[in-house]
Amino acid sequence: MTSTLSVRALEAGELRAAHTLFAAAIHRGPADDAAWARSAQLYGPGRTFGVHSGGALVGTVASFPSELTVPGGAVLPMAAVTRVGVRADHTRRGLLTAMMRTQLEDAAARGEPVATLRASEARIYGRFGYGIATRARNLRVRADPALLRDDAPRGGTVRLLAREEIIPVLRGVHARIAHRRPGGISRTDGWWSATIGRRVDVDREHVIAAVHTGPDGDDGFAIAFLEGSSDFTERGLEVSDLHAADVGATAALWRFLMGIDLVRHVSGELRPLDEPLELLLADPRACAVTGHADETWLRLVDLPAALAARTFGPAEPVLIAVHDGFLAANTGVYRIADGHAERVGAIDGPVRPELECTAAGLAMAYLGDRRPSELVATGWWSAPEPAAVPRADAAFATAEVPWCGTYF
Ligand SMILES: CC(C)(COP(=O)(O)OP(=O)(O)OC[C@H]1O[C@@H](n2cnc3c(N)ncnc32)[C@H](O)[C@@H]1OP(=O)(O)O)[C@@H](O)C(=O)NCCC(=O)NCCS
Repeated sequence: MTSTLSVRALEAGELRAAHTLFAAAIHRGPADDAAWARSAQLYGPGRTFGVHSGGALVGTVASFPSELTVPGGAVLPMAAVTRVGVRADHTRRGLLTAMMRTQLEDAAARGEPVATLRASEARIYGRFGYGIATRARNLRVRADPALLRDDAPRGGTVRLLAREEIIPVLRGVHARIAHRRPGGISRTDGWWSATIGRRVDVDREHVIAAVHTGPDGDDGFAIAFLEGSSDFTERGLEVSDLHAADVGATAALWRFLMGIDLVRHVSGELRPLDEPLELLLADPRACAVTGHADETWLRLVDLPAALAARTFGPAEPVLIAVHDGFLAANTGVYRIADGHAERVGAIDGPVRPELECTAAGLAMAYLGDRRPSELVATGWWSAPEPAAVPRADAAFATAEVPWCGTYF
């Protein structure tokens, strides 16, 4: 079926139909003109693909250009894959498979060695070589700043932004701090407009946007929206965004949010696994972990380039065979030694691999989220040479837990 499908880049005049199709696929109605004016900015020229049937658009995928921080601090061009949908009467006929292939080839041609996405369902993207590369947790804490330990870091000052300041100010703060850890990505103006701008300017939601200023200037921010409730004393604050350069800024922003009047609790979704909120509280149980979620799904599009871009920890050399059934050019044996990785041969060549994995399995270790030993133990990787496993653990280990913090 896939071979008969024709995928092509959509013209500018077809992008609104693509958005309407995507919205319907996730069970939302069409955007009105104001909402479309915002959402349109995520549909970059030439980056939206579609499949037609009987003259109608029946499948679409899009991406916008971004950049991903990898271990060691390099920042790689990245395709941020989004707006994926197939019309309900055309699913399971290979449309997504055909579009994914075109999109990944397009990313490679653009010089984007990595692609990432957020998955509506966890069973969709593994077959295309995407693996979960960052994870996150959901938190909920009572809105009472007295819960913070007296000797918890206090940070600097926090100021509230006026609505019209939010995007101009926070765009700059985010750009300064988002690439501080592996998994961080850059945001385009289109992202700000389509996500925060739509809620603030089109939906006219009440928003709390605050900036933290430390000794070196603005180094953290939070954006939060009120959960609806008719009872003034029962409302919750949902943190949609909280980025901070250090623990002082983190503590100051949580303290500020927990001290806002007429708020019963503060909750945050997709927070970093290592966010130290419990450590800041006198009673660590006051912070409830309400869920865990996969965050970044990573596709190593140009495997040699992606592996060469990250640094590896000090370890004796290790040889890994990577099998990539979807982008066959990536298949090969890679050697990690002296902090760097390079391709050293074909799978059935003279170099015998010590470990084997798929592209998706490698993506799970690439940013440091999963250790090779746990991937071997659970069957994601295999270890023809078991002695190589601790060497691989040492090579892939990162000092920081990877996290992104940007939903798209
Ligand atoms: C997810 C979606 C895009 C899949 O499109 P599709 O054209 O049906 O996908 P394909 O036909 O190319 O499927 C390829 C394979 O993936 C499997 N697959 C696709 N979607 C799946 C899902 N949601 N759950 C489990 N398996 C799925 C298919 O069964 C098929 O398996 P096979 O090769 O063993 O036969 C489509 O179902 C959709 O639009 N869903 C609602 C919107 C959505 O969730 N979009 C994703 C946003 S991140």
